[in-house]
Amino acid sequence: MSLHPSSSSSLLFFLLFFFLNPFFSSSQKILSSFNSKSPPWNPTQNQILLSPNSTFAAGFLQSSQNSFNFSIWYYKIPVKTIVWSANPNSPLNSSATLFISSSGELKLTPSTSSSAPNLWPSIIRNTSSVLFLQEDGSLVYGNWNSFLNPTDTYLPTQNITGTNLTSANGKFQFDGSNSNTLFFNGNDSYFTFSQNALQRLEETGEVTQVNGKFVSSDFGEKGKLRRMKLDEDGNMRIYSFDLSSSLAKNWTIVWQAVNQLCTIHGTCGTNSICLYDTSTTQTSCVCPPGFRKDTSKSCVRKIPLMTKDSKASKYLPLDFVSFTGVGNQTDLKALSFSSCEKNCSDKNDCLGFLFKYDGTGYCVLVLEKLLYGYWSPGTEFVMYLRVDSRENDISNFIGMTSLMETSCPVRISLPFPPEESKTTTRNIVIISTIFAAELISGVFFFWAFLKKYIKYRDMARTFGLEVMPAIGPKRFSFSEIKNATNDFTDKIGRGGFGDVYKGKLSDGRVVAVKCLKNVKGGDAEFWAEVTIIARMHHLNLVRLWGFCAEKGRRILVYEYVPNGSLGEFLFQKSLIQSPDGQKPILDWNIRYRIALGVARAIAYLHEECLEWVLHCDIKPENILLGDDFCPKVSDFGLAKLKKKEEMMTMSRFRGTPGYVAPEWTKADPITPKADVYSFGLVLLEIVSGTRNFEHHNSKVESDQWFFPAWAFDKVFKDMNVDDILDPQIKQSYDSRAHFDLVNRMVKTAMWCIQDRPDARPSMGKVAKMLEGTVEIIEPKKPTIFFLSEE
Ligand SMILES: *[C@@H]1O[C@H](CO)[C@@H](O)[C@H](O)[C@H]1NC(C)=O
Ligand SMILES: *[C@@H]1O[C@H](CO)[C@@H](O)[C@H](O)[C@H]1NC(C)=O
Ligand SMILES: *[C@@H]1O[C@H](CO)[C@@H](O)[C@H](O)[C@H]1NC(C)=O
Ligand SMILES: *[C@@H]1O[C@H](CO)[C@@H](O)[C@H](O)[C@H]1NC(C)=O
Ligand SMILES: *[C@@H]1O[C@H](CO)[C@@H](O)[C@H](O)[C@H]1NC(C)=O
Ligand SMILES: *[C@@H]1O[C@H](CO)[C@@H](O)[C@H](O)[C@H]1NC(C)=O
Ligand SMILES: *[C@@H]1O[C@H](CO)[C@@H](O)[C@H](O)[C@H]1NC(C)=O
Ligand SMILES: *[C@@H]1O[C@H](CO)[C@@H](O)[C@H](O)[C@H]1NC(C)=O
Ligand SMILES: *[C@@H]1O[C@H](CO)[C@@H](O)[C@H](O)[C@H]1NC(C)=O
Ligand SMILES: *[C@@H]1O[C@H](CO)[C@@H](O)[C@H](O)[C@H]1NC(C)=O
Repeated sequence: MSLHPSSSSSLLFFLLFFFLNPFFSSSQKILSSFNSKSPPWNPTQNQILLSPNSTFAAGFLQSSQNSFNFSIWYYKIPVKTIVWSANPNSPLNSSATLFISSSGELKLTPSTSSSAPNLWPSIIRNTSSVLFLQEDGSLVYGNWNSFLNPTDTYLPTQNITGTNLTSANGKFQFDGSNSNTLFFNGNDSYFTFSQNALQRLEETGEVTQVNGKFVSSDFGEKGKLRRMKLDEDGNMRIYSFDLSSSLAKNWTIVWQAVNQLCTIHGTCGTNSICLYDTSTTQTSCVCPPGFRKDTSKSCVRKIPLMTKDSKASKYLPLDFVSFTGVGNQTDLKALSFSSCEKNCSDKNDCLGFLFKYDGTGYCVLVLEKLLYGYWSPGTEFVMYLRVDSRENDISNFIGMTSLMETSCPVRISLPFPPEESKTTTRNIVIISTIFAAELISGVFFFWAFLKKYIKYRDMARTFGLEVMPAIGPKRFSFSEIKNATNDFTDKIGRGGFGDVYKGKLSDGRVVAVKCLKNVKGGDAEFWAEVTIIARMHHLNLVRLWGFCAEKGRRILVYEYVPNGSLGEFLFQKSLIQSPDGQKPILDWNIRYRIALGVARAIAYLHEECLEWVLHCDIKPENILLGDDFCPKVSDFGLAKLKKKEEMMTMSRFRGTPGYVAPEWTKADPITPKADVYSFGLVLLEIVSGTRNFEHHNSKVESDQWFFPAWAFDKVFKDMNVDDILDPQIKQSYDSRAHFDLVNRMVKTAMWCIQDRPDARPSMGKVAKMLEGTVEIIEPKKPTIFFLSEE
């Protein structure tokens, strides 16, 4: 541990913890080592071993009334944090003793009886040894070191290779010796670091692997304590504690192995479906239709299943549900849905099948038992659950009944209001169109989903009537805007075009109000432009609802997009911060869909609108995310209100080379290809989770550093995509599932950032490249480009 507090503050700190430390009491005896001459150590003696600089302490810790463990914990911090125990599975009572026998054997015994067993994790005899605690948190006796026998925690510099962890509740194991896999109940694996074995957690927050490394989100920050723990929920996490901040009173999660908690085996029991709630970060277990709760985690069938006769059973579709259990599953390549169904019906032990509506014929029969079900739109599966034909329950998991589109649909066409009897089918059509789009994320709660279903059903009804006549933007008076924003009190953003405030219109709609600065032209011209902007409808564009042009004021009223910008998601510091600042890490499928949605929106602006609209300011801050991660591009059309010189000043003003294309610095005409360039840079950031002009490790401070050029070499020379991936979700990168997506994003990006505008594809082509409907050949390496600063 290298901590460098100034001497006066460390004295203060010392005094503080001295008085606040829960384990401290005035009569506590502090040992620096324990040897064969020391009197036997009993839990009732108030004594501890301290490491040289008091970071760690070791001794008997009381866990409940008459129950003690011999443990190591952080001594310096006010949160009780145990990192090791000698006897994790056999708590001791007050008659336990620690002593060194005459033969030099270190003994931890439940009682003083001579026949009492030695509970120390290894038998070590060494007549010339003393027991002491090192500054790194390891207890040493002769050649033995507690780092060789971890319980549930790894500390910085500890060797992971060759050791295992067990969670405190004994349910989960991490095998760092051979397989580098997380297990439930010893042999049921749910996550693996595969070929890339973990070696060590460094003090910097980096974890070295045999073949590479990954880093915590606060990597490189000094003055922090760090530890890696296998938690009782089966996830492995890195925690960090900020010693330098007087505000930090607790550990912060800065990395976790499994991002979808529902994929951890054992989270729910048999026949049950796991749901994850992002707002509470809790999981819950619900029963599928035809089942009722058995225990809090598992379910039983209401009507036993008879599978001998195929007519005695039927199938209920559960959208976005997957059963990945250890049951005997059979992967098939089915020609069609009905052949997949028939294959299941032909088997007596088939309890259902997973089917993917993507034309690949993906069909998995779930045999023998239903285990580890979970709901996530990211799965893109439909589980067809076999139930008795008399079963009356209907599916409670709905949302996808037809092919899942990759992004928000560009247009929604609704039939005329049908007869009452058809409403259900019609609703399903509407809902599946909307949901195909909206349910792009991997994680949210099923009941929220149901609520949305109802909301969308009602919304779609009104939408059908409302969308037909092209309604122009509403003109607001300045006093209306002032009222709506409560006199411009709630500022939510500040962009190149002006400040943004949150407000609420008199009809209840929540809006984002943007007050433009330095707009050219008169009222009539402004109105004309705004009308054009308001005419652009695309699910991936923020809707403009109205404007205000009064006494030289230029104000735009937009729909409010709740989740903030893509930038906030990509470049956040701490994985799980204070409850209010919490943002989930975007998984690969969501990133891909964001990229595709943005590409389609810009292609729409460039190619499908009546008048060409260049965006001219594409960057992660201008890509907003709806509450289901549907991307919405903002600030489009505003460039027309500004002059080219001002656009330049703006990007200079930002002080970074930014996202602008080379032609902005030259006298060259600005074409849609300038947007393509900016989009390419954003695309790389979506993949790397790092600003293009910042190095992954924030260590390389070089003027010549340019991520795209480096990434190009990694992808096309070293043929190694892994190195450029966002370190925060790198471990969830599975080359079989994600290679194609990520590869397409990176290669498309390289085409977008070509120096010569005519070498870049059009935005429509970019969208196709991302979709995978056109082949992508190898692009030329992009050169380093910087805005000249003079
Ligand atoms: C203990 O702290 C001192 C002063 O901060 C430092 O010089 C020394 O290296 C530390 N010792 C260990 C073992 O970390
Ligand atoms: C001691 O071990 C028991 C059993 O594993 C556990 O329940 C308890 O929480 C532990 N207490 C401490 C202080 O580690
Ligand atoms: C403590 O545990 C030992 C061995 O498990 C047992 O023999 C003894 O009776 C216990 N003492 C008390 C006070 O519970
Ligand atoms: C005993 O411990 C000493 C250091 O304390 C070590 O050098 C020696 O190798 C150990 N002997 C055995 C047999 O473990
Ligand atoms: C950790 O492992 C390395 C080699 O992998 C070895 O050289 C070193 O001695 C080990 N450290 C400890 C404390 O076991
Ligand atoms: C770790 O666990 C694996 C599998 O359970 C086992 O084969 C190996 O021996 C264990 N290693 C240690 C050091 O306990
Ligand atoms: C896992 O262990 C359990 C109990 O130890 C055993 O019943 C089961 O067959 C094992 N499963 C496999 C796949 O080895
Ligand atoms: C620290 O965080 C843990 C888990 O997040 C929580 O259980 C505990 O109560 C917190 N402790 C303090 C002192 O805030
Ligand atoms: C799975 O099923 C196949 C045949 O359907 C059988 O041969 C195999 O033994 C089964 N495996 C397990 C682990 O039950
Ligand atoms: C699945 O069904 C098809 C036709 O329905 C059949 O040809 C095929 O053999 C079946 N496969 C299995 C594994 O039962």
